Amino acid sequence: MTQNGIATLNLGDGKEAIELPVISGSMGPDVVDIRKLHAKSGVFTYDPGFLSTASNKSSITFIDGDKGILLYRGYPIEQLARQCNFTDVCYLLMYGELPNESEKNDFNKLVTSHTMLHEQLVKFFSGFRRDAHPMAVMVGVVGALSAFYHDALDISDVTHRELSAVRLIAKMPTIAAMAYKYNIGQPFIYPRANLSYAENFLHMMFSLPTEDYKADPRIVRALDRILILHADHEQNASTSTVRLAGSSGANPFACIAAGIACLWGPAHGGANEACLHMLEEIGDVSRINEYIKRAKDPDENYRLMGFGHRVYKNLDPRSTLMRETCHEVLNVLGLENDRLFKLALELERIALEDDYFISKKLYPNVDFYSGIVQRALGIPTSMFTAIFAMARTIGWVAQWNEMISDPEHKIGRPRQLYTGTVQRDVPAGYHQ
Ligand code: CMC
Repeated sequence: MTQNGIATLNLGDGKEAIELPVISGSMGPDVVDIRKLHAKSGVFTYDPGFLSTASNKSSITFIDGDKGILLYRGYPIEQLARQCNFTDVCYLLMYGELPNESEKNDFNKLVTSHTMLHEQLVKFFSGFRRDAHPMAVMVGVVGALSAFYHDALDISDVTHRELSAVRLIAKMPTIAAMAYKYNIGQPFIYPRANLSYAENFLHMMFSLPTEDYKADPRIVRALDRILILHADHEQNASTSTVRLAGSSGANPFACIAAGIACLWGPAHGGANEACLHMLEEIGDVSRINEYIKRAKDPDENYRLMGFGHRVYKNLDPRSTLMRETCHEVLNVLGLENDRLFKLALELERIALEDDYFISKKLYPNVDFYSGIVQRALGIPTSMFTAIFAMARTIGWVAQWNEMISDPEHKIGRPRQLYTGTVQRDVPAGYHQ
């Protein structure tokens, strides 16, 4: 971080101009440091939705939305998706470097040793209705982890933070799979230490006490890729939620539960589920134009799910990789003629040639394809966002840990532009 000039802000009315430092990071746009603006001038900046605001500094993930670049700790997502597995990426996001062979083994062993849940916590599930959405269960059960693992909740202690982070990464697949098993009325399947992260999740989802599920390695690889592609995405809504919750000193389990709640929304992680519902609703290629028309109509509050992104104004690099995986998976499973996949491809083609989508730079995002892949893997739609949460947990804990370790971090406390009634008095005699 280096200072790279001065920006001058003229507030008019004969007021003295304010000088603000311009700071450069290692890549990406410079920022104007407005931290002292209010103290110097009495004004705030106004930026709902953080369109022009860097809320923190970070060395974890870099996105260039115009060029379609995504880097984790400097490594392009394409290389990580093709050459690494999810736990390598977890290690990278957490510690800053890819693990060597022995670090890899130690880390895998560590994560594997924490995959089980406290048996009392397993009982939590039966308090939910069977038809509860898995994300509702995830918010509740992950939040409840802090009641079980309070031996490592001192957030000022690096080893406590690390242990809580590993517990979260390790237990998330167990919680997600248990939410699914509870929903369909099957017994819980406990994690296995001899399986990889992705394989273990498939085992807990699809094995039965009577029969083990043996996943095709290509299917395991597809799930692993989904996890890698969703592992982190800099200061998105749920990560910012985790940081904001953590800025008050809240424990990591509570912060991640807040992140899961935020991720659930259809404009964020809920988009993969919403996209599948949309494809089902369209139902047939002949109805695509009707839906495109609705999405373009300013009087209709309707959007094509799986299209557009706040940051990517070019192809989302994750969607290119997911599209590739989508073809592979459908091929492996003999589902090339799958109705929804064909419909999705046609929708993609029409939207990419449409002036509205071109001019607004609305490209298919990762969720457009990840839903189709997960459906092909036999994962029910209601689990899509839970799997996103499972993948994003590493990003959340890495960003939370980075924030707590930053000596400059402060409790997040945005200001506002008040538009309510000016001060007035309660009428005399009211409530007598
Ligand atoms: N379909 C139709 N029009 C759209 C869409 C869409 N999917 N997305 C944006 N627009 C239009 C929008 O109506 C607006 O038009 P106008 O300029 O005439 O008002 C313009 O494009 C800009 O949209 P915006 O809402 O200002 O853009 P944003 O950056 O605030 O929103 C978004 C980004 C992802 C929330 C939005 O594109 C969207 O709702 N997409 C559908 C949901 C979705 O797929 N979300 C997953 C995002 S990727 C996964 C993740 O990172 O969580």
